[in-house]
Amino acid sequence: MKEEVKVVLLTGGSSGIGAAAARLMCQAGMTVYAASRSGKAPEGYSGNGNIFPVVMDVNDEAAIREVVERILSEQGRLDAVVCNAGNGIAGPIEETSIEEIETQFRTTFYGVVKTIDACLPVFREQKHGRVITISSVAAVAPLPYQGFYSAVKAGILNLTKALAIETRPFGIQCCSILPGDVRTGFTAARKVALKAQAEDSPYRKRTVRGIAAMSKDEQEGMEPEVIGKAILKQLRRRRMRPEVTPTFIYSLLVWAIRRFPQSFVLRVIGKLYS
Ligand SMILES: NC(=O)c1ccc[n+]([C@@H]2O[C@H](COP(=O)([O-])OP(=O)(O)OC[C@H]3O[C@@H](n4cnc5c(N)ncnc54)[C@H](OP(=O)(O)O)[C@@H]3O)[C@@H](O)[C@H]2O)c1
Repeated sequence: MKEEVKVVLLTGGSSGIGAAAARLMCQAGMTVYAASRSGKAPEGYSGNGNIFPVVMDVNDEAAIREVVERILSEQGRLDAVVCNAGNGIAGPIEETSIEEIETQFRTTFYGVVKTIDACLPVFREQKHGRVITISSVAAVAPLPYQGFYSAVKAGILNLTKALAIETRPFGIQCCSILPGDVRTGFTAARKVALKAQAEDSPYRKRTVRGIAAMSKDEQEGMEPEVIGKAILKQLRRRRMRPEVTPTFIYSLLVWAIRRFPQSFVLRVIGKLYS
Protein backbone atom coordinates (compact mmCIF):
# COMPACT_ATOMS: atom_id res chain seq x y z
CA MET A 1 0.00 0.00 0.00
CA LYS A 2 1.19 3.51 -0.79
CA GLU A 3 2.15 5.44 2.33
CA GLU A 4 1.65 9.18 1.97
CA VAL A 5 4.82 11.18 2.54
CA LYS A 6 4.19 13.58 5.39
CA VAL A 7 7.52 14.02 7.19
CA VAL A 8 10.83 14.52 5.38
CA LEU A 9 14.45 14.95 6.43
CA LEU A 10 16.25 17.01 3.80
CA THR A 11 19.99 17.73 3.87
CA GLY A 12 21.45 20.88 2.36
CA GLY A 13 18.13 22.59 2.95
CA SER A 14 19.38 26.15 3.45
CA SER A 15 20.15 27.11 -0.14
CA GLY A 16 19.90 26.24 -3.84
CA ILE A 17 18.18 22.98 -4.77
CA GLY A 18 17.52 22.01 -1.15
CA ALA A 19 15.88 25.35 -0.31
CA ALA A 20 13.64 25.14 -3.39
CA ALA A 21 12.71 21.54 -2.57
CA ALA A 22 11.94 22.49 1.06
CA ARG A 23 9.62 25.33 -0.01
CA LEU A 24 7.78 23.14 -2.53
CA MET A 25 7.39 20.23 -0.10
CA CYS A 26 6.09 22.65 2.52
CA GLN A 27 3.58 24.12 0.04
CA ALA A 28 2.46 20.55 -0.66
CA GLY A 29 1.65 20.14 3.05
CA MET A 30 4.69 18.13 4.11
CA THR A 31 6.65 18.75 7.30
CA VAL A 32 10.30 19.31 6.42
CA TYR A 33 13.37 19.17 8.65
CA ALA A 34 15.81 21.21 6.56
CA ALA A 35 19.35 20.40 7.71
CA SER A 36 22.56 22.27 7.01
CA ARG A 37 25.74 23.21 8.88
CA SER A 38 24.51 26.77 9.36
CA GLY A 39 21.00 25.71 10.34
CA LYS A 40 19.61 28.66 8.35
CA ALA A 41 16.01 28.64 7.13
CA PRO A 42 15.71 27.79 3.42
CA GLU A 43 16.36 30.82 1.18
CA GLY A 44 13.09 32.42 0.16
CA TYR A 45 11.06 30.69 2.88
CA SER A 46 8.38 33.03 4.25
CA GLY A 47 8.19 31.25 7.61
CA ASN A 48 4.63 30.31 6.82
CA GLY A 49 4.54 26.52 7.05
CA ASN A 50 6.06 23.45 8.58
CA ILE A 51 9.76 23.79 7.88
CA PHE A 52 12.12 23.19 10.80
CA PRO A 53 15.65 24.39 10.01
CA VAL A 54 18.18 22.22 11.88
CA VAL A 55 21.93 22.40 12.43
CA MET A 56 23.27 19.08 11.18
CA ASP A 57 26.58 18.37 9.50
CA VAL A 58 26.20 15.22 7.39
CA ASN A 59 29.71 14.21 8.46
CA ASP A 60 28.63 13.99 12.08
CA GLU A 61 26.91 10.63 12.71
CA ALA A 62 25.86 11.55 16.25
CA ALA A 63 24.24 14.79 15.05
CA ILE A 64 22.33 12.94 12.32
CA ARG A 65 21.02 10.35 14.80
CA GLU A 66 19.97 13.13 17.18
CA VAL A 67 17.97 14.81 14.41
CA VAL A 68 16.30 11.52 13.42
CA GLU A 69 15.38 10.89 17.09
CA ARG A 70 14.03 14.45 17.38
CA ILE A 71 11.86 13.97 14.28
CA LEU A 72 10.48 10.69 15.65
CA SER A 73 9.73 12.21 19.04
CA GLU A 74 8.08 15.32 17.51
CA GLN A 75 6.27 13.72 14.56
CA GLY A 76 6.08 10.03 15.43
CA ARG A 77 7.21 9.14 11.90
CA LEU A 78 9.78 9.83 9.21
CA ASP A 79 8.62 9.04 5.70
CA ALA A 80 11.48 10.14 3.50
CA VAL A 81 15.05 11.37 3.45
CA VAL A 82 16.41 13.57 0.68
CA CYS A 83 20.22 13.50 0.61
CA ASN A 84 21.07 16.70 -1.19
CA ALA A 85 23.99 18.31 0.72
CA GLY A 86 27.10 18.36 -1.41
CA ASN A 87 29.98 20.38 -2.77
CA GLY A 88 32.53 20.26 -5.53
CA ILE A 89 36.31 20.26 -5.80
CA ALA A 90 37.72 20.97 -9.23
CA GLY A 91 41.18 20.25 -10.57
CA PRO A 92 43.01 17.81 -12.81
CA ILE A 93 43.14 14.29 -11.44
CA GLU A 94 46.96 14.26 -11.31
CA GLU A 95 47.06 17.48 -9.33
CA THR A 96 44.38 16.77 -6.75
CA SER A 97 45.87 15.72 -3.43
CA ILE A 98 44.59 12.77 -1.40
CA GLU A 99 43.39 15.24 1.26
CA GLU A 100 41.40 17.15 -1.38
CA ILE A 101 39.95 13.90 -2.77
CA GLU A 102 38.95 12.88 0.76
CA THR A 103 37.27 16.26 1.25
CA GLN A 104 35.29 15.69 -1.95
CA PHE A 105 34.16 12.26 -0.79
CA ARG A 106 33.53 13.28 2.85
CA THR A 107 30.36 15.32 2.49
CA THR A 108 29.15 14.34 -0.95
CA PHE A 109 29.57 10.55 -0.61
CA TYR A 110 30.11 9.50 3.02
CA GLY A 111 27.71 12.22 4.22
CA VAL A 112 25.01 10.65 2.07
CA VAL A 113 25.83 7.15 3.35
CA LYS A 114 25.75 8.31 6.99
CA THR A 115 22.41 10.08 6.53
CA ILE A 116 20.82 7.09 4.82
CA ASP A 117 22.21 4.72 7.49
CA ALA A 118 20.53 6.69 10.27
CA CYS A 119 17.13 6.51 8.52
CA LEU A 120 17.06 2.90 7.31
CA PRO A 121 16.28 1.26 10.69
CA VAL A 122 13.29 3.62 11.04
CA PHE A 123 12.09 2.85 7.52
CA ARG A 124 12.47 -0.94 8.04
CA GLU A 125 10.59 -0.77 11.33
CA GLN A 126 7.75 1.25 9.73
CA LYS A 127 7.81 -1.00 6.64
CA HIS A 128 7.89 2.08 4.44
CA GLY A 129 10.25 4.92 3.63
CA ARG A 130 11.77 6.71 0.71
CA VAL A 131 15.37 7.60 -0.04
CA ILE A 132 16.15 10.27 -2.63
CA THR A 133 19.75 11.08 -3.47
CA ILE A 134 20.94 13.98 -5.58
CA SER A 135 23.47 12.70 -8.08
CA SER A 136 24.26 14.68 -11.26
CA VAL A 137 24.39 14.43 -15.03
CA ALA A 138 28.15 14.35 -14.29
CA ALA A 139 27.55 10.75 -13.11
CA VAL A 140 27.18 9.73 -16.76
CA ALA A 141 29.07 12.57 -18.46
CA PRO A 142 32.57 12.43 -16.96
CA LEU A 143 33.69 16.04 -16.54
CA PRO A 144 37.35 16.90 -17.02
CA TYR A 145 38.79 18.86 -14.09
CA GLN A 146 35.88 17.60 -12.02
CA GLY A 147 36.90 13.94 -12.20
CA PHE A 148 36.48 13.24 -8.50
CA TYR A 149 33.12 15.04 -8.40
CA SER A 150 32.00 12.93 -11.39
CA ALA A 151 33.26 9.79 -9.61
CA VAL A 152 31.37 10.65 -6.43
CA LYS A 153 28.13 11.31 -8.32
CA ALA A 154 28.47 8.08 -10.34
CA GLY A 155 29.02 6.30 -7.01
CA ILE A 156 25.91 7.88 -5.52
CA LEU A 157 23.82 6.86 -8.53
CA ASN A 158 24.88 3.20 -8.40
CA LEU A 159 24.71 3.07 -4.61
CA THR A 160 21.11 4.29 -4.72
CA LYS A 161 20.13 1.66 -7.27
CA ALA A 162 21.82 -1.14 -5.30
CA LEU A 163 20.07 0.13 -2.17
CA ALA A 164 16.74 0.05 -4.03
CA ILE A 165 17.21 -3.68 -4.63
CA GLU A 166 18.39 -4.44 -1.08
CA THR A 167 15.64 -2.53 0.69
CA ARG A 168 12.66 -3.31 -1.53
CA PRO A 169 11.71 -6.34 0.63
CA PHE A 170 11.31 -3.90 3.56
CA GLY A 171 8.92 -1.62 1.65
CA ILE A 172 11.59 1.03 1.06
CA GLN A 173 11.88 2.89 -2.25
CA CYS A 174 14.97 4.65 -3.59
CA CYS A 175 15.49 7.21 -6.33
CA SER A 176 18.49 9.14 -7.58
CA ILE A 177 17.97 12.49 -9.29
CA LEU A 178 20.48 13.69 -11.88
CA PRO A 179 20.37 17.49 -12.23
CA GLY A 180 22.09 19.20 -15.14
CA ASP A 181 23.31 22.78 -14.72
CA VAL A 182 21.47 24.61 -11.95
CA ARG A 183 21.94 28.23 -10.88
CA THR A 184 22.89 27.98 -7.18
CA GLY A 185 25.64 28.81 -4.73
CA PHE A 186 27.33 25.55 -5.72
CA THR A 187 29.47 27.36 -8.34
CA ALA A 188 30.85 29.93 -5.90
CA ALA A 189 31.42 27.29 -3.20
CA ARG A 190 33.49 25.06 -5.52
CA LYS A 191 37.13 24.76 -4.46
CA VAL A 192 40.03 24.32 -6.88
CA ALA A 193 42.89 21.91 -6.09
CA LEU A 194 45.88 23.89 -4.80
CA LYS A 195 48.47 22.38 -7.13
CA ALA A 196 46.38 23.26 -10.19
CA GLN A 197 46.54 26.93 -9.23
CA ALA A 198 50.36 27.08 -9.46
CA GLU A 199 51.78 29.07 -12.43
CA ASP A 200 53.91 26.09 -13.53
CA SER A 201 51.04 23.55 -13.58
CA PRO A 202 51.00 21.81 -17.00
CA TYR A 203 47.18 21.69 -16.74
CA ARG A 204 46.68 25.28 -15.57
CA LYS A 205 45.36 26.92 -18.76
CA ARG A 206 43.00 24.06 -19.61
CA THR A 207 41.79 23.83 -16.00
CA VAL A 208 41.02 27.55 -15.85
CA ARG A 209 39.24 27.40 -19.23
CA GLY A 210 37.30 24.24 -18.34
CA ILE A 211 36.14 25.48 -14.95
CA ALA A 212 35.16 28.86 -16.42
CA ALA A 213 33.03 27.13 -19.08
CA MET A 214 31.36 24.84 -16.53
CA SER A 215 30.74 27.73 -14.11
CA LYS A 216 29.17 29.79 -16.92
CA ASP A 217 26.90 26.86 -17.86
CA GLU A 218 25.85 26.46 -14.21
CA GLN A 219 25.13 30.16 -13.73
CA GLU A 220 23.12 30.23 -16.96
CA GLY A 221 21.44 26.99 -15.98
CA MET A 222 17.95 26.21 -14.74
CA GLU A 223 16.33 27.51 -11.60
CA PRO A 224 16.62 25.21 -8.55
CA GLU A 225 12.80 24.96 -8.50
CA VAL A 226 12.99 22.67 -11.53
CA ILE A 227 14.87 20.10 -9.47
CA GLY A 228 12.73 20.81 -6.41
CA LYS A 229 9.64 19.94 -8.46
CA ALA A 230 11.25 16.71 -9.66
CA ILE A 231 11.98 15.73 -6.04
CA LEU A 232 8.42 16.52 -4.97
CA LYS A 233 7.00 14.60 -7.92
CA GLN A 234 8.87 11.44 -6.86
CA LEU A 235 7.77 11.84 -3.24
CA ARG A 236 4.15 11.92 -4.41
CA ARG A 237 4.34 9.02 -6.86
CA ARG A 238 2.99 5.66 -5.86
CA ARG A 239 6.28 4.10 -6.97
CA MET A 240 9.36 6.25 -7.31
CA ARG A 241 11.49 5.78 -10.40
CA PRO A 242 15.03 4.58 -9.54
CA GLU A 243 16.64 7.27 -11.72
CA VAL A 244 15.30 10.64 -12.83
CA THR A 245 16.96 13.27 -15.03
CA PRO A 246 14.82 16.42 -14.89
CA THR A 247 13.95 18.24 -18.14
CA PHE A 248 13.58 16.68 -21.55
CA ILE A 249 16.84 18.06 -22.90
CA TYR A 250 19.02 16.64 -20.09
CA SER A 251 17.26 13.26 -20.15
CA LEU A 252 17.87 13.13 -23.91
CA LEU A 253 21.53 13.99 -23.25
CA VAL A 254 21.88 11.19 -20.70
CA TRP A 255 20.16 8.77 -23.09
CA ALA A 256 22.55 9.75 -25.91
CA ILE A 257 25.67 9.56 -23.73
CA ARG A 258 24.76 5.99 -22.78
CA ARG A 259 24.11 4.91 -26.36
CA PHE A 260 26.76 6.70 -28.44
CA PRO A 261 30.29 5.26 -28.75
CA GLN A 262 32.22 6.41 -25.69
CA SER A 263 35.20 7.62 -27.77
CA PHE A 264 32.82 10.05 -29.52
CA VAL A 265 31.22 11.13 -26.21
CA LEU A 266 34.60 11.87 -24.63
CA ARG A 267 35.73 13.86 -27.67
CA VAL A 268 32.61 16.04 -27.50
CA ILE A 269 32.95 16.62 -23.73
CA GLY A 270 36.65 17.44 -24.28
CA LYS A 271 35.75 20.01 -26.96
CA LEU A 272 33.33 21.68 -24.58
CA TYR A 273 35.42 21.73 -21.43
CA SER A 274 39.09 21.06 -22.15
N1 LIG B 1 24.12 23.37 -8.99
C1 LIG B 1 24.28 22.46 -9.92
O1 LIG B 1 24.51 22.78 -11.10
C2 LIG B 1 24.19 21.00 -9.55
C3 LIG B 1 24.15 20.07 -10.59
C4 LIG B 1 24.06 18.71 -10.28
C5 LIG B 1 24.00 18.30 -8.97
N2 LIG B 1 24.06 19.23 -7.96
C6 LIG B 1 24.01 18.74 -6.58
O2 LIG B 1 22.92 19.33 -5.91
C7 LIG B 1 23.17 19.31 -4.51
C8 LIG B 1 22.81 20.66 -3.90
O3 LIG B 1 23.67 21.63 -4.43
P1 LIG B 1 23.23 23.13 -4.79
O4 LIG B 1 23.53 23.33 -6.21
O5 LIG B 1 21.89 23.42 -4.28
O6 LIG B 1 24.36 23.92 -3.96
P2 LIG B 1 24.32 24.97 -2.75
O7 LIG B 1 23.40 26.09 -3.06
O8 LIG B 1 25.76 25.28 -2.49
O9 LIG B 1 23.71 24.15 -1.54
C9 LIG B 1 24.45 23.24 -0.77
C10 LIG B 1 23.70 22.96 0.50
O10 LIG B 1 24.38 21.93 1.22
C11 LIG B 1 24.62 22.36 2.56
N3 LIG B 1 25.81 21.67 3.05
C12 LIG B 1 27.07 21.70 2.55
N4 LIG B 1 27.88 20.92 3.28
C13 LIG B 1 27.11 20.35 4.23
C14 LIG B 1 27.37 19.45 5.29
N5 LIG B 1 28.59 18.96 5.52
N6 LIG B 1 26.35 19.05 6.08
C15 LIG B 1 25.09 19.56 5.88
N7 LIG B 1 24.79 20.42 4.90
C16 LIG B 1 25.79 20.82 4.09
C17 LIG B 1 24.75 23.89 2.45
O11 LIG B 1 24.47 24.58 3.65
P3 LIG B 1 25.63 24.92 4.77
O12 LIG B 1 26.76 25.55 4.00
O13 LIG B 1 24.97 25.83 5.74
O14 LIG B 1 26.00 23.62 5.38
C18 LIG B 1 23.64 24.16 1.44
O15 LIG B 1 22.37 24.17 2.08
C19 LIG B 1 24.63 18.91 -4.33
O16 LIG B 1 24.72 17.56 -3.96
C20 LIG B 1 25.21 19.12 -5.73
O17 LIG B 1 26.31 18.26 -5.97
C21 LIG B 1 24.14 20.56 -8.22
